Order: sequence, then structure tokens, then C-alpha cells
Amino acid sequence: MSGPLLELRDVSRRFGAFVAVDGVDLDVAAGSIHAVIGPNGAGKSTLFRLITGILRPSEGSIRFSGEDITGRRTHAIARRGLGQSFQITSLFPRLTALENVQAAIVTRRRRASDFATWFHWSTGSEALDLLNRVGLTGGAATPAQALSHGDQRALEVAVALATRPRMLLLDEPTAGMSPFETERMVELVGRIRSEEELTVLFSEHDMDVVFGISDRVTVMAEGRVIADGPAQQVRDDEAVMAVYLGSDE
Ligand SMILES: Nc1ncnc2c1ncn2[C@@H]1O[C@H](COP(=O)(O)OP(=O)(O)OP(=O)(O)O)[C@@H](O)[C@H]1O
Ligand SMILES: [Mg+2]
Repeated sequence: MSGPLLELRDVSRRFGAFVAVDGVDLDVAAGSIHAVIGPNGAGKSTLFRLITGILRPSEGSIRFSGEDITGRRTHAIARRGLGQSFQITSLFPRLTALENVQAAIVTRRRRASDFATWFHWSTGSEALDLLNRVGLTGGAATPAQALSHGDQRALEVAVALATRPRMLLLDEPTAGMSPFETERMVELVGRIRSEEELTVLFSEHDMDVVFGISDRVTVMAEGRVIADGPAQQVRDDEAVMAVYLGSDE
């Protein structure tokens, strides 16, 4: 494998005078599970929005699979194989779990003719298979809004997988989850990575999750990268510990 799958160089994003992301360099190796951690407001979600094209960087460049995707639109980036799931849920609340996945499959195929009929016969089994993989078969006919929080997040992963991404971006996949649901999400991320040869980039506050599954960890504070390396090395980094213990440096 030559070069990282995702490569950020000196990426910044300003909102007025405020610098939310400040000169970030990031290399994500193909096939790795890579965590971005840092205190609230560190710039993690903003960084993810820059990667997925929801926001444009003020400066810097982003390459995915060797191709410059800086400033490209979200759907163009998604088509190149960057799937995503957000800190804030992005499901269609009234559609069933199955229909949410079917909608994502349709988007991938981008086919519009005879939509209603085609939607149901051609996407059903693939969608069920995806629900099965994230452990949601039982909830297939349940509207997304009626699923438990943990099941909604699992459904989001199924929706992201429906686009057949090469990289999955998960912004706080375990936010608001019970310990049981967290355990299930960790198991799910590990399993899909090995089954699909996916690269996973995720942000996370739960350090047990981070150091339980990550190969590499990047630490952000106030928009900057303050540490980056193999998980073990970052865990032993004093500057990182200082950030999490609440001291200044
Ligand atoms: N659209 C925006 N306009 C102005 N400021 C913004 C905007 N988006 C984010 N910010 C600011 O940028 C900073 C970084 O926010 P961001 O959401 O990226 O942090 P985060 O690391 O994801 O935090 P959390 O762990 O709480 O999710 C915050 O101070 C936030 O208020
Ligand atoms: Mg965030």
C-alpha cells in the first residue's frame, strides 16, 4: 500500500475571526481504525465536516485515495468512497429502518425510473442483509424515530455502509449510548472493518472505546493537533494526559 488513504495538509477553517481548525496535518492509513480525540470544542466535528465536504477549508488541502478532494461537494466525495455518519442523527425519522437503508442504496445507484416499484423489489434483500450485519433485523419494519438510540446509531452505520464506502467516518458513534449499546457499537465497528476491509476514522470521548479499538490516535485541542501516533504511544503522552486532566499544558 503506497501512501495514506486520506491525507490532510495544513487544513484550517475559520468562522469569522475564530479558528476552529488550525493547520491540521492528518494521515489515515488504508485499513486502519483511526481515532480523533480531544475536549469539547477541539474542532473534531468541524474537521469531519471539512473531510466530507459539508464545509470548505479556509486553507490547506485534502486528498482521498491520491485524489485532491479539497472543496469538492459532499456527494462527489461520497461517490469516491467516503461514507459517513454524524454526531447528530441524519436518518429519515418516519421511514422504517429498512426504508432508510433502501433509500441509501437507491442514492448509490442513482436510478430514478419507475422509482416506487423498483425501490421495493430491487433493494429489499440487500437492505435486509445490511440490517442483519449491524444487528438490526428485528427492527426492519420499525420507523427510525421509534428505534432506541443505540439502534438508530447502528442504523446510521448500515445507511453509511449502503453506499459501499472505502472509508467510514463516524462522529462520536457511541454518544449518548448505554454501556451495553456502546459495547455493541465497538463490536460492530471491529467486525465491519475486518469483513469489508474498511478504513474507519472516528471521533470519540469514551477512552475505553478509543484505546480498545484504535490503531492510531490523533489528539486535537483548540483546533490543533497536539499529539498523533500509535494508540499505545498516545496513551502514554503527558501532554495528552494534561488535556484530559484539565490543566493548561
Ligand atoms: N458553523 C460554525 N460557526 C461558528 N463556530 C463554529 C461553527 N461550527 C463550529 N464552531 C465552533 O468551532 C469550535 C469547534 O467545534 P466542533 O464542533 O468542531 O468541536 P468538537 O471537537 O466536535 O466538540 P465536541 O466534542 O463537543 O463534539 C467550537 O468552538 C464551535 O463553537
Ligand atoms: Mg463534535
